[in-house]
Amino acid sequence: MAKAKTQYQCTECGSVLSKWSGQCPDCEAWNTVTEARVAAPAPGRGRLGYAGSGATGVVTLASVENTTDERRSTGLAELDRVLGGGLVTGSVVLLGGDPGIGKSTLLLQALAHIRASEPCLYVTGEESLQQIAMRARRLNLDAGALDCLTETSVEQILAAVAERNPGLVVIDSIQTLFSEQVASAPGSVTQVRECAAALVRHAKQNRCTMLLVGHVTKDGALAGPRVLEHMVDAVLYFESDSGSRYRVVRSVKNRFGTVNELGLFAMTGTGLKPVSNPSAIFLSGVESTSGSVVTVIREGTRPLLLELQALVDTSHLANPRRVALGLDHNRLAMLLAVLHRHAGVSMSDQDVFINVVGGIRLSETGCDLPVALAVLSSFRDRPLPKRQVCFGEVGLGGEIRPVYNGEERLKEALTHGFERAVIPAANAPRKAPAGLEVIVVKTLEEALDKAFD
Ligand code: TYD
Ligand code: MG
Repeated sequence: MAKAKTQYQCTECGSVLSKWSGQCPDCEAWNTVTEARVAAPAPGRGRLGYAGSGATGVVTLASVENTTDERRSTGLAELDRVLGGGLVTGSVVLLGGDPGIGKSTLLLQALAHIRASEPCLYVTGEESLQQIAMRARRLNLDAGALDCLTETSVEQILAAVAERNPGLVVIDSIQTLFSEQVASAPGSVTQVRECAAALVRHAKQNRCTMLLVGHVTKDGALAGPRVLEHMVDAVLYFESDSGSRYRVVRSVKNRFGTVNELGLFAMTGTGLKPVSNPSAIFLSGVESTSGSVVTVIREGTRPLLLELQALVDTSHLANPRRVALGLDHNRLAMLLAVLHRHAGVSMSDQDVFINVVGGIRLSETGCDLPVALAVLSSFRDRPLPKRQVCFGEVGLGGEIRPVYNGEERLKEALTHGFERAVIPAANAPRKAPAGLEVIVVKTLEEALDKAFD
């Protein structure tokens, strides 16, 4: 056995240090450096070479056999959409999310469907077999023939996989696994990395599809080494507003599909049900009140109508509050500055709260104009006209910039019965869709003027 030596390692980012330090020099996190006894790797073994390493030697691309992505449906239309049309054979997908959000439920539902056409294996290190059986019964799933295994040793898991040769393996969760060849505790950065590498290597060499469940840190990022995200083919996040019954699965990396694709589910008494018409749900009950505005976002390949709400109230604080839920608070601060400079609306003595209804997190710039309108509507206590949507990016010069897929967004608004749309001039359609009054604007000032008519 190679001589073990003492090293220090950051539990957040996994960087290795030769001496202890209160702050990690790489990720700048405090109190995350811990002692790790690392056995020197056996010479000549590439520990992280996973993608079928060494099996073929050097070849030209032309000589590589052309295979099309074989995809299989998970039985859940919204999950298939996030995956880019189904699970690709031999791919490795990482699913992260808060505890109790429904990761195990979702995967059990998918397994019960796939089980009908090919053998699957569900490996759990977190729950007992009784708990899984109870859940399957509660979900009314036909999963009686599903192979299950409670095991945390990656060597034992791979032995079981090699013996049964299932087409799909679910590991719940990667943080509970350990490798007998690594001398650090389960859940540590080294263990997670080595276990994931071993699983990915097996998946690529045997064209076995793997779904790994990953824990998240309190900031919502995947726990464990960053390199985990590089190793896998797709990374999906399960998000939700606390208390909301809606769940969003978002792809943040996908080698076989579009990123930022959203899949929507509702958690019911009998498991997760795909929401096929999300716009209708997020808009239900929209009244035209001051501070409320409807926008069309486009995440992934689907436009989605959403309601944004703002509340502006006199502040009694020296530093008025700026709270943005579902939105970047820096973006809100920037919009308030633009409103002040280019539209003459000062909110320096007002608290400003913004909320995206439905617990969706927005990342696109097309929500700038809607946020500005919502804030102004609440500030003036003047509702925006009924059945009006808007979208557009606001530049620092107060100009309204175009967003992509404008016509598609207009079409979605029309489908849901909207009659007016305030949009950037550069997004003006050549021919306005029948039944939709399109109001084009070039500057923020012009937008504030026309949107309230
Ligand atoms: P679970 O899949 O165990 O979460 P995770 O694996 O992400 O930790 O989901 C558990 C939660 O889901 C729990 O709070 C109860 C809820 N739930 C339902 O509301 N309905 C159901 O049919 C099931 C199975 C769970
Ligand atoms: Mg679970």
